Amino acid sequence: MADQPLWHGRFETSPADALMKFTESLSFDQKLWRDDITGSIAHVKGLVHSQIISKSEGEKIVVALETVANEFVNDKFVFVATDEDIHTAIERRVTQIAGDTGAKLHTGRSRNDQVATALRLWCKRELATIGKLTLDLCDVFKLRANEAGWGSDGVYLPGYTHMQRAQPVLLAHHFAAHAWALLRDVDRLTQTIERLDVSPLGAGALAGSSLPLDADFVSTELGFARRFNNSLDAVSDRDFVAEALFNLTLIGIHLSRLGEEWVLWTTQEFGFAVLDDAYSTGSSMLPQKKNADIAELARGKSGRLIGNLTGLLATLKGLPLAYNRDLQEDKEPLFDSVNQIALALQALSGMISTAKFNTAAMQTAADSELLGATDLAEWLVARGMPFREAHSHVGALVSKSIRESVELSKLVKADDKLGKDAATLLAPGAAISRRSTKGGSGPIPGAIQSAELSEEITVMRARVASLSAPLFNLR
Ligand code: ARG
Repeated sequence: MADQPLWHGRFETSPADALMKFTESLSFDQKLWRDDITGSIAHVKGLVHSQIISKSEGEKIVVALETVANEFVNDKFVFVATDEDIHTAIERRVTQIAGDTGAKLHTGRSRNDQVATALRLWCKRELATIGKLTLDLCDVFKLRANEAGWGSDGVYLPGYTHMQRAQPVLLAHHFAAHAWALLRDVDRLTQTIERLDVSPLGAGALAGSSLPLDADFVSTELGFARRFNNSLDAVSDRDFVAEALFNLTLIGIHLSRLGEEWVLWTTQEFGFAVLDDAYSTGSSMLPQKKNADIAELARGKSGRLIGNLTGLLATLKGLPLAYNRDLQEDKEPLFDSVNQIALALQALSGMISTAKFNTAAMQTAADSELLGATDLAEWLVARGMPFREAHSHVGALVSKSIRESVELSKLVKADDKLGKDAATLLAPGAAISRRSTKGGSGPIPGAIQSAELSEEITVMRARVASLSAPLFNLR
C-alpha cells in the first residue's frame, strides 16, 4: 500500500492532495533521518530486551534500518508521494525491506514520542556544534587581543558611552568584552543541552503503553541522561526548542552588536579596521566600493532570529496537552536559526581573524586630552578632594578649554589645585597604564584578564566536548 499513508486503516478515501501538501513536513524534517534511525534502533533493542519481539526479529529490523541509513548516506533513498514526514518514510522503507517483521518496528511507539526523541538527539549534537563554533570566535578574539597587547604599550582606542568618546581602553580589553559575552552564550548552550538530555521514548502517543516497554533501558541505549517522568509532558514539551532558539537568538544579538561596530569601524569616518578582500564585497555600480556585508548581515539576520523565537512561543502558547500537530511548526525556525548562526559565526571568525587594524587612527582618536578628564578628577580625589567637587573643578576647566580653544593640559598646568604633574596624565596612553581595577582596562588587570579568558575558553571547550559524545551509533 505504498500509495496510502501509514495511518490509512480507518479511512475510506485517500487523502486529498491539498491535505498532503499542507500537512507534510518531509520537505524540512529530512535532516532528522540520522536521529530517527538512531531512535528506532534503540527502540527495537528495547523491544527485544522486553521480549516483545524475538532476538532474530530485532536483528532483522536493525539490519533494515542500517540499510536505510546507507541509502541516505549514499543519496539513494527514494521518497514516495505518501511519505508525510521522515519518520513515516523510514518506517515504510523498513517494512518494504523486512516485510512483516519490519511492520513490528512501530510496536509500542507513536510518532509523538518518536519525533520528540529525534529532535532532542538532533539538538544535542547541533547545539554542541554551535558551542564549538562560538568558541572558535572566542579564540579569534583571544588571538587578536594578545596580538594587540595587554601591557602599557598595548594598542588602545577610545571607549565609548552613548557613542561619545569616553575613556581610552586597550584594544585587547575591547575584544575580550565580546569574547566574555560569547562565553556566556556557550554556558547557556551547555545548560540547555543538559536540561534537554531526556528520553521521551516509551511515552507513546500520550499515555505510555500496555506492553512491557523499558524506558530506562532505551534512554541509556540512546545516551540520554535520564528518561521522561510524565508521558503527557514528554510528547508535548518543546521547552527545549524554545530555549535553544532563545540561546541562538541571543548569540545572534551579540553578533548583531558586533556587526554594527564593524560597520562603523570600517567606514572612512572611523577608519579603525580594513577588511581582507576575501571577507568584503563590492558594488555592482560603484567601482571604488568595499563593503562590510558580513557585518551588516550579522546585524540584519538578528531580525529573523528574533522572529523564529517569538514565532515558536506564539505557536506553543495556545496548545492544550498533549501532542498537537501545531508542534510540527517547531522545526523550521529551529533548523533555520541553527543554520544561520553557524554560518554567521564562521563568516565573522574569518572576517575578524583576517582584518587589519589602523592602530594609528584608533590611538589618535583616543589621544584627545578630554578623554583624560576623569583621570584629573581622580588625581584630585587621591589628594583629598571630594569627588563631586573634583568633578566640577575639572568640568569647569574642560568647558574653558572648549570655549577658548586652549589645550586642556595648558589650563591644568596653570591650575593651582592640579598643577604641572597632573598635566602628565593627559599624555597619549597615560590613562591606560594608570588603571588598576581588576577587570578594568590597564596592564596589571589586563594580565589577569588575559589568563582568566584563556582559562574560561579551555573550561568551556571541555564542557562542550563532554556533551557532544557521538550519538549516531550505527555500525
Ligand atoms: N511530522 C510530525 C511532527 O513533526 C510528526 C508527528 C506526527 N504525529 C501525529 N500524531 N500526527 O510533529
